[in-house]
Amino acid sequence: MDALRIISEDHNNLWRLATAVDQLATDMEGGAPLAHDFFESVFNYIDQFVERSHHPKEDDYLFRLLRQRSPESVATLDALQLQHAEGPARLSALRIQLASAHVGQLPLSELASALRSYTAGLKAHILMEEKQVLPVARKVLLKEDWASINQAFLDNKDPLFGEVAQAEFRDLYHRIVSTAPESIGLGGQSAGHLPTRTVAASEVLLRVQGMESCYGRIKALKGISLEVRRGETVALVGANGAGKTTFLRTLSGVQPMSAGRIHFDGDDISGLRSDKRMRRGICQSPEGRQVFGPLSIEDNLALGAYTQPRHQVAGDMEKIFAMFPILKEKRALPAGTLSGGQQQMLAIGRALMGRPRLLLLDEPSMGLAPLLVQEVFGVIKTLKAQGMTILLVEQNALAALDIADRGYVLETGSVTLTGTGQELINNEQVRAAYLGM
Ligand SMILES: Nc1ncnc2c1ncn2[C@@H]1O[C@H](COP(=O)(O)OP(=O)(O)OP(=O)(O)O)[C@@H](O)[C@H]1O
Ligand SMILES: [Mg+2]
Repeated sequence: MDALRIISEDHNNLWRLATAVDQLATDMEGGAPLAHDFFESVFNYIDQFVERSHHPKEDDYLFRLLRQRSPESVATLDALQLQHAEGPARLSALRIQLASAHVGQLPLSELASALRSYTAGLKAHILMEEKQVLPVARKVLLKEDWASINQAFLDNKDPLFGEVAQAEFRDLYHRIVSTAPESIGLGGQSAGHLPTRTVAASEVLLRVQGMESCYGRIKALKGISLEVRRGETVALVGANGAGKTTFLRTLSGVQPMSAGRIHFDGDDISGLRSDKRMRRGICQSPEGRQVFGPLSIEDNLALGAYTQPRHQVAGDMEKIFAMFPILKEKRALPAGTLSGGQQQMLAIGRALMGRPRLLLLDEPSMGLAPLLVQEVFGVIKTLKAQGMTILLVEQNALAALDIADRGYVLETGSVTLTGTGQELINNEQVRAAYLGM
């Protein structure tokens, strides 16, 4: 049922957008300037995609067939279809309010409340569809119904979250990623991803300059400089003992830094303790997984959220369980009873519970059978597609560089090469040293 998956993805993406709009409305009430271009791009997206593609397909295929097969759903479908029909007028009204606010004729607080009521409508609409329509569709529609519905939906050119996002929406995508109040990595299962592009310097999330770290008199890191931009996946590859783990540990603050500077989201965090860094969103899944064997899976996950407000823990845990159903099934069992691959999922899930803005993964594929390695990389790809910023350390250089936007090669404590993932894969030196080619 491709159509159902696509509809749910569209809903997740729209929900994310609505959440970002709400957040910006709140910022605006708190005195932030009007994010005019952002709102305008959101309206263009809704206009171009949601109203011209998503809604008509629902009306003409899904809803039409469902009306025939499930007479008791007709009232709900009428209500939803009416909201579809009213959408363009609502959006036009909002565009007029945005324009007035832009020229100072409408107070920003009024625009904020108009935006909020629009997103509230949007969210209510999505919930109604998800709760009352899709489950019925799943039950009553016949095979031949799905064939035509799927065909309509498979031609799905989402300009923002689609396979090939349109250029004018790329900035919007990155802005959504950086303004979404909840870490998008905990969101729904969006498969959308963007082609890599050169990003403005202002979008640098992490900047490390000249990092040094020692074990006694041995200098394990000899002045490492690297950058990670918002939404990027950066791979750090290198042989045994190159200093990859030391780098991640120094970055998260559990290993002392003897020289250098770390800037995160514009702030110098070089002097911050590890828990403070975690609170800011630097969350690590450590080498060797290090789950707490005697503790239950739930308790392990809860530990990952110790810097987070308590009220959000249960909800976040459900999101992790949605990503990793096996953990839900075994939630009450000691973590030590899980297989290696499952423990790796738990370690990643635990890091996600800290609502990372930068997720550090230290050799997530280590010691796993090939099929499980693929599965772990699949999870990383999903997180990446959802907009998570990831710094991935791997000995499995080919797999890591393959999914990375950019990479750094580390040799005995120094960066010796950097480039896009593909450039490094094609580099003679890298091929000889790490790819066995
Ligand atoms: N606790 C320690 N005490 C002393 N030296 C250490 C310690 N941990 C690491 N080292 C040394 O620091 C250097 C970097 O090690 P590190 O573990 O960071 O490498 P790595 O790239 O993560 O290697 P691997 O691929 O094996 O995980 C190595 O020379 C290692 O022997
Ligand atoms: Mg290591």
